[in-house]
Amino acid sequence: MAKIDFKTLKIEAQKAVKEAKDLKELDTVYRKYLGKKGELTLILRSLKYLPEKERKKQGKLANQLKKEISSLIEGESKSIEKKGFSFAKATEDKLDVTVPGEKPILGHLHPLTLVKRKTEEVFQAMGFSVIEGPEIENEWYNFDALNIPKDHPARDVWDTLWIKTEEKPLLLRTHTSPVQIRYMEKNNPPLRIIVPGRIFRHEATDASHEINFYQLEGLMLGKEIATANFKAIIKEFFSRFFEKEVKIRLRPSYFPFTEPSFEVDMSCLVCGGKGCKVCSGTGWVELMGAGMVHPNVLKAAGVNPKNWQGFAFGIGMDRLAMMKYKINNIRLFYSGDLRFLQQF
Ligand code: DAH
Repeated sequence: MAKIDFKTLKIEAQKAVKEAKDLKELDTVYRKYLGKKGELTLILRSLKYLPEKERKKQGKLANQLKKEISSLIEGESKSIEKKGFSFAKATEDKLDVTVPGEKPILGHLHPLTLVKRKTEEVFQAMGFSVIEGPEIENEWYNFDALNIPKDHPARDVWDTLWIKTEEKPLLLRTHTSPVQIRYMEKNNPPLRIIVPGRIFRHEATDASHEINFYQLEGLMLGKEIATANFKAIIKEFFSRFFEKEVKIRLRPSYFPFTEPSFEVDMSCLVCGGKGCKVCSGTGWVELMGAGMVHPNVLKAAGVNPKNWQGFAFGIGMDRLAMMKYKINNIRLFYSGDLRFLQQF
C-alpha cells in the first residue's frame, strides 16, 4: 500500500470546507471525505491490510484527521446556519413595530375640477342650474344661431378645429355659447343656467393660451333683466369665489351674440397688479366676455325678444384657476406633472 499523504488530504479538505457557500455544498464536502465512500473512510477501511505496527500509527493519524475534518464541517455548518437564520428572520419573520408606517398614496382632485366645483357651488346658491352640452357641434349652434353668419369676419375670432365628414361639416366647439341655444330651444324663460365645459381652439399656445381649455357659460333671461343685474351677480360671484374683494372693471367690447357687449377684467392676482407674463404686463387679466343677449340669438332659439331679455357671459375657467392659485402658466394644468398636481 502506498504511503498515505495525510497532509495534502487535510489541506484539500480545509479548502473545500471554506469554499462551501451553503449547507448543500457543505454536505457534498462531507460525503467526499467522510461519507460511506469518502476518501478518509476508504483509508480507514484499508488499514486492516497493514502490519500491526504500521496500522496503529496510520490509524491514529487517520482518526485524528477524521475528527478534525468533522469538527471543521460542524463549525462551518453552524456559521452558515447562523447567517441564514439572521437574514431570513430579520426580513421575513420579524415585525419591527418601531418602523414608521407607509402612507397610502391618495388620489385628489385636479385644480381645474376644484375650480369648476367651487364655481358651480357659488352659482347654484344664486339659483342657477348646471347644464351640459356636446363638445362636437355643427355650424348652426356654434356660429349661425349665435348671430355669426358664414363669411362674417367675426368667425375668424374663433380659430376652429374642423371635423371632416361626408355631409355637413362638424367642428369641436370653440366656446360654450352654443349650449345657450340648445337650452332655450327646450326650456322656456325665465331661466338661469351655467354651462361648464371643455372647448377647443386652433391656435398657438403660450403662457395663457391652450388649444383645449375650459369655459363657463352663463345665461339669465327674464322680463326685466338688465346690465345692473349682471354686474351685481358677477361681483357677488367674484367675492364668494376668491373669498375676498377683488378689483374688476368692465370694458366695452364686441360679440355678435350680445348688444351691448363688454369684457370683464380683474386685477391680476399673480403679480398683484404690477404686471407679469400672465397679464402681459398690464396688471389686468381678461376673465370673461359678456353682454345683453342679442335679439337675433333669442329668435334663433325660438324665444320672443319682445317678451324676454337678459344677459349672457363666458368665463375662462383656466384663467380663473390661475388667479385663484397664482399659477403663471396655463400649460401646467395639462402637463400631467405630479410635482405640480400634488400641491392641490
Ligand atoms: N363665447 C365667447 C368666447 O368664447 C365668450 C362670451 C362672450 C360668451 C360674451 C358669452 C357672452 O355668453 O355674452 O370668446
